[in-house]
Amino acid sequence: MDRRFAICGASTIGPDIVRLVVEAPRVAAHAQPGQFVIVRVNDHGERIPLTICDSDPEAGTITLVVQAVGSTTTQLNVMTIGEHLADVLGPLGTPTGIDRFGACVVVAGGVGTAIVLPVARALTRAGNRVTAIVGARNEDHLILLNEMRDATNEVIITTDDGSAGRHGLVTDALGTLLAEGDVDYVFTAGPIPMMQAVAGTTRDKRILTVASLNPLMVDGTGMCGGCRVTVGGESKFACIDGPDFDAHAVDFITLSKRNTAYLEFESCRFDEATEAIDA
Ligand SMILES: Cc1cc2nc3c(=O)[nH]c(=O)nc-3n(C[C@H](O)[C@H](O)[C@H](O)COP(=O)(O)OP(=O)(O)OC[C@H]3O[C@@H](n4cnc5c(N)ncnc54)[C@H](O)[C@@H]3O)c2cc1C
Ligand code: FES
Repeated sequence: MDRRFAICGASTIGPDIVRLVVEAPRVAAHAQPGQFVIVRVNDHGERIPLTICDSDPEAGTITLVVQAVGSTTTQLNVMTIGEHLADVLGPLGTPTGIDRFGACVVVAGGVGTAIVLPVARALTRAGNRVTAIVGARNEDHLILLNEMRDATNEVIITTDDGSAGRHGLVTDALGTLLAEGDVDYVFTAGPIPMMQAVAGTTRDKRILTVASLNPLMVDGTGMCGGCRVTVGGESKFACIDGPDFDAHAVDFITLSKRNTAYLEFESCRFDEATEAIDA
């Protein structure tokens, strides 16, 4: 058995959300912010993309944050220290373009916080002033807040029900910052409707806004076409051309439709995985 991809850290950080530290020395040595890996839990498993939330080249490990939404992510949620993943392919994708933009705002929703975090760190390292807006439906679903506070100048929390931070949506907080007038760059990751709303909020002011897209992926290497997205009227493959794109040019409606195309099949796989775990 391949022993390289051992789980050496596993902790629950939110409802159905785990942080896994995985031995993957080659990935850890080359990972850059915005990149992801394709993971298989076992030899017969599905391949799923997960962002490299952190990497430690000296220890030879990467950190993944996984929300259980279906079959494979549910299996990952119950893995324990000492178990192994069958495959960890990466780092994949084009790294996030980091520059000295000035005043940056990173906007994260739910598990998107894990995708935003490495970008926030890199923007701060590059000399930017970084404000994070982290949103969730309620206090329990807020994750990685301490890590985000360490990575940025300021963290603004919003919850849909007002149980923590400001009562409202991330776009309400973003609108307030835009009204104050000091925003040069916005990066966002989270649910598709949220990213679409963020793009709508910055469009009129023509603020450079980048979204990390989450289409379905299969091979992750530009061969299968599964991750096709429409950006500025052109077809792009998110696994090699992205996952980051100009949010003002993304066709979010088509992305949303493509991501739900296999819902019925996925829900059967989910039931099978849950039964196997319960057995
Ligand atoms: C570049 C990239 C990075 C990602 N990083 C992370 C991460 O760091 N942490 C994390 O928890 N998730 C991340 N995702 C989403 C993750 O890949 C999916 O949740 C996963 O593939 C679902 O697999 P499953 O077998 O558990 O669920 P499935 O049974 O395949 O799907 C269950 C439900 O999840 C939806 N879904 C499936 N794939 C995606 C997707 N790619 N994005 C959004 N919804 C999806 C389905 O439409 C369905 O409703 C990322 C996706 C991409 C493209
Ligand atoms: S996942 Fe196959 S082309 Fe992108």
